[in-house]
Amino acid sequence: MKKCVRIALPKGRLYDAGVELLRKAGIVIPAALDGSRKLVFPDAAERFEFVPLKPVDIPVYVESGTIDAGIVGSDVLREVEADVVEPVDLGIGRCRLVLAAPAGSALPASGSLRVATKYPRTTERYFRGKQIHVHIVKLDGSVEIAPLLGLSDAIVDLVETGRTLKENGMHVVEEVAAVSAKLIVNRTAMKMKSADVRHLITQLDTVVYENPGQ
Ligand code: PRP
Repeated sequence: MKKCVRIALPKGRLYDAGVELLRKAGIVIPAALDGSRKLVFPDAAERFEFVPLKPVDIPVYVESGTIDAGIVGSDVLREVEADVVEPVDLGIGRCRLVLAAPAGSALPASGSLRVATKYPRTTERYFRGKQIHVHIVKLDGSVEIAPLLGLSDAIVDLVETGRTLKENGMHVVEEVAAVSAKLIVNRTAMKMKSADVRHLITQLDTVVYENPGQ
């Protein structure tokens, strides 16, 4: 096992806030990382290594132990269901996972509801809990367009400002889950790299405590 702590950084909407949080926690992220195509970056002291990844892959790497820790949205964690430790709610990337539908449309009361989403497992569990049968249409992006084009009756997707829903004539029917970013850690790394991992957790805890609602 490598001695340094390898940390996965989520590409996309959480990236800037995640890097900012780590910098505030005193973890020096190499400037070369911004805009580079390299895949693994050591810090100057070689205490950490950073790996920018697609969020959905981060729990997989961290569960396997090939990466020790990562920053990832609770929406992704809920969907991937990896066996990892979640020691810190980072308080960034706050938004909601919602069931939404075209404004003014009634969802079918009987028969199968067609729901488009990037979160098929979460959606399946959510409707199973309500004992409603759904047909799930798995998409990878721009989910809001599915009901407009007749591919689905509704969507389960993230809402942050609500602008995307509004501009596409949709409204929130129900909240499925509140979402925020978490620090996740591999179970073995918690023990084998205990000093460095606990330092990382303590530093991040302090930053989150001192910057509530960031
Ligand atoms: C997310 C989400 C919505 C949008 C919501 O998409 O899937 O489309 O942001 O944000 P809003 O409420 O502030 O408008 P993202 O930008 O991550 O891209 P994607 O649709 O390609 O997944």
